[in-house]
Amino acid sequence: MAKIKPLTFNYDGSLIPENGITQAQIEALAPKLEAARDEVIQTDLQLYASGENIPEEKLPLDAGFHEMPERILDEYQSDRANSELGRILATAAKLRERVDKVVVLGIGGSYMGARALMETCCQPYFNELTRAQRGGHPRMYFAGNNVDNDWSQALLEFLRTNSTGDGPEGKWGIVVISKSGGTLETASAFRQFLAELEKLVGAESLPDYVVPVTGAEGKLASLADTIGCKDRFLVPDGVGGRFSVLSAVGLLPAAILGIDVVALLEGAAAMNGQFRTEPMGSNPVMDYVAVNHLLEKERGVLTRVLSVWTKSLESAGFWYDQLLAESLGKAEQGALPLTCVNSRDLHSRAQQHQEGIRDKVMNNVILDSWRCDPLPIGRSDRNEDQLNELADKTLPDVMAAAIAGTNLAYKEDNRPTTDIHLPAADESSLGQLFQMLMLTTVLEGRLMGINPYGQPGVEKYKKYMNQLLRQTVST
Ligand code: PA5
Repeated sequence: MAKIKPLTFNYDGSLIPENGITQAQIEALAPKLEAARDEVIQTDLQLYASGENIPEEKLPLDAGFHEMPERILDEYQSDRANSELGRILATAAKLRERVDKVVVLGIGGSYMGARALMETCCQPYFNELTRAQRGGHPRMYFAGNNVDNDWSQALLEFLRTNSTGDGPEGKWGIVVISKSGGTLETASAFRQFLAELEKLVGAESLPDYVVPVTGAEGKLASLADTIGCKDRFLVPDGVGGRFSVLSAVGLLPAAILGIDVVALLEGAAAMNGQFRTEPMGSNPVMDYVAVNHLLEKERGVLTRVLSVWTKSLESAGFWYDQLLAESLGKAEQGALPLTCVNSRDLHSRAQQHQEGIRDKVMNNVILDSWRCDPLPIGRSDRNEDQLNELADKTLPDVMAAAIAGTNLAYKEDNRPTTDIHLPAADESSLGQLFQMLMLTTVLEGRLMGINPYGQPGVEKYKKYMNQLLRQTVST
């Protein structure tokens, strides 16, 4: 395993006598938090492995995400060709040869992670690059995550008019992801995009261009049988949708884009190691939960702002919005997640964060290094903007000043902040961040006595939407 540069977590900005928390409160919480960690790393994993005598209040127990990175990596090491990861890489390579565009259909946990992977690990304008500039990797588009008439038709029209020629540039493919296989948004998009693809490649060739990722059984699995899809992957049992990013759900789209999925999984495995062994104070999972939970309970801080200081992490923030909201928003509890991209949103939200209701913590996510060399502001003969005095300052210099300045401004008004430092916007860092936030969510659920798995509240709207639609059809 390559040496991992660790993600770090610092909560000095929340240790403020007024409106924040104290080290003594963290120490007082420590025994409860240790007990919750034991529950997550021992009780839950043992119950999950045996599948027996799982108490009612722990059902569903979708703890399969926890050791998944290590399991997938181990299987890959022992049998590269036939392991799940080996098959994912082989399928991605085949698609790369065949197509220049891939449409990923999925919603919620079957969508957000893949999008976060693309936006964090690929070049910002990846889809605009030539095939050579993309290293031969297909462009990627996301659909089936809404029922938006205009966006669906725009993508279909784009694919129709921009897929010409005999080579891969003339072809596109579909990766359809749905654990249940019955989610209406994704299912209806699959029907529409499949019909369009069939016009291009013909019914017999569809299996070469369609890769389903779904449960062992269900409507999508049956449809995949009928189409004759040869390459297909399972959303494993015991892994909830929003916890599935490090299964085929995220790994297949990532591999298609040329993202280093091994480094991603190694990052996640490293976070597991830290969580299991490190004491509080150097354990990002435990420390994050301690601070955010205490702020909520002691100070009524119910809004958790994930303040990402690069646009590359915006979708990772949206992925976390779903994770936190669906996991802990139960029994009339659970903090409200809010993703901000800075410095952009300093010009839209900062006023409220600085002087509004004291119900927020700013959890910063800060990059310690940028992909490209620092770009200076530059010197100009037209100095009406009076920027020549800053000519040698680079964009990373300006960003660093914005981060430090914003934290100072919050500190002055006793507004709590924390800092998650990522070594870079890359696979290893994102793997650590994904796993850290999944573990924090489960750990906090156990601490609060809330089952972080399952989303019974989401089922209600689906039931009524289906009823309404089918009534309309029958009248
Ligand atoms: O976390 C979850 O399980 C949900 O958000 C699902 O991911 C989402 O509802 C999509 O479900 P499916 O993958 O079954 O289409």
